[in-house]
Amino acid sequence: MIETVGDHVLANYARAPVTFVAGQGCELIDVSGKRYLDFVAGIAVCALGHAHPAISSAIIEQAQTLVHCSNLYGHEPASILAQKLAQLSGFNRVFFCNSGTEANEAAIKLARKRAFCAGEQRRTILSCTGSFHGRTLGALAATANPHYHEGFEPLPAGFASTPFNDIAALHSNINHTTAAFVVEPIQGESGVHPASRAFLEAARQLCDEHGALLVFDEVQSGVGRTGKFFAFQHFGVRSDVVTLAKALANGLPIGAMLVDEPLAAVFQPGDHGSTFGGSPVPCAAALAHLRVRDELHLDDHVQAMGARLCAALQELHKAFPAIISEPRGLGLMLGVSVKAPHDATKLVSDAREKGLLINSAGGNSLRFTPPLVIDSASITRLHRVLGAIFEETATV
Ligand SMILES: Cc1ncc(COP(=O)(O)O)c(C=O)c1O
Repeated sequence: MIETVGDHVLANYARAPVTFVAGQGCELIDVSGKRYLDFVAGIAVCALGHAHPAISSAIIEQAQTLVHCSNLYGHEPASILAQKLAQLSGFNRVFFCNSGTEANEAAIKLARKRAFCAGEQRRTILSCTGSFHGRTLGALAATANPHYHEGFEPLPAGFASTPFNDIAALHSNINHTTAAFVVEPIQGESGVHPASRAFLEAARQLCDEHGALLVFDEVQSGVGRTGKFFAFQHFGVRSDVVTLAKALANGLPIGAMLVDEPLAAVFQPGDHGSTFGGSPVPCAAALAHLRVRDELHLDDHVQAMGARLCAALQELHKAFPAIISEPRGLGLMLGVSVKAPHDATKLVSDAREKGLLINSAGGNSLRFTPPLVIDSASITRLHRVLGAIFEETATV
């Protein structure tokens, strides 16, 4: 029996006692051969599920052609991916990195440098309570949740927060000192909380009024998770900068910051960079992902399956109102609150025992981010398993 976590791996994750050896579609398989229906998808990463043949072939082919050449030079996969992202987003410049936190660091640095170039004193990066923007120090400072800060102070200066979805507070907190307002159109780590349209509209208007940048962090909500390529498309509000990561390469490390000219020109050669950012293999995987998304008309599928999953959670809420709240979220990014004295982490481990992977997120919530290729039968299976667990929980 292989140990779940080797003795030599740093214990910075609260890992579940399970070791996976393979994945197939919407299932993961552990060392004993037990199969699990995966409603986590690597936390909104494996959009096409596990071991998708198009992704695997793209990785193999690229690995046999060119693995790395440094950002001192150009290569085709990054150029083609940037072009494709520009077509999809309408933002015509892309900076590639390796993760969500790095994409947000790039946005923070861009906002500061823009102010510097304009000779302005504005330095403040404003973000929302409950947000999550990453674990490197800049993105961590923007993550307005003291839980993540404890023990790591002093954090970089020039960060401030404003209550999520509070328009009145936004009016006082965006001002001439604001370099950027960074916001997730749907907060993920806080337990799946969508922004209101009015809040994002106010953010756009206030940023314009005060000359601040509006940055949408779509690291978790982007690349089709909500049934549109970007979650912001549900709200009819456009930002100046969008950050992406997680699902883009369906499991390989990549991050991206999308901007337009003339803002893009703020970064001149040497201002920012990354050794591995946008290297050929993740870019090839991302291109395969984007091609398959189109072939499968995945946005339509996500909208249909999202409605089904939401209906299933709604039924579970009706049957067990003392255990879970009504569902919230968009597409296949859904969450429910778990009501005291019940505990989301206990429900997650009960589900795992029964071969269902779900995830707990902030504020005693359950989060559902299955592969976007999930089907109705799998949603029915989740409904049945969760129903059985809630039944047992209610009678304990
Ligand atoms: C909205 C959001 N931004 C940023 C990040 C950080 O991404 P990464 O873990 O790839 O650095 C996450 C990760 O969960 C996220 O959900």
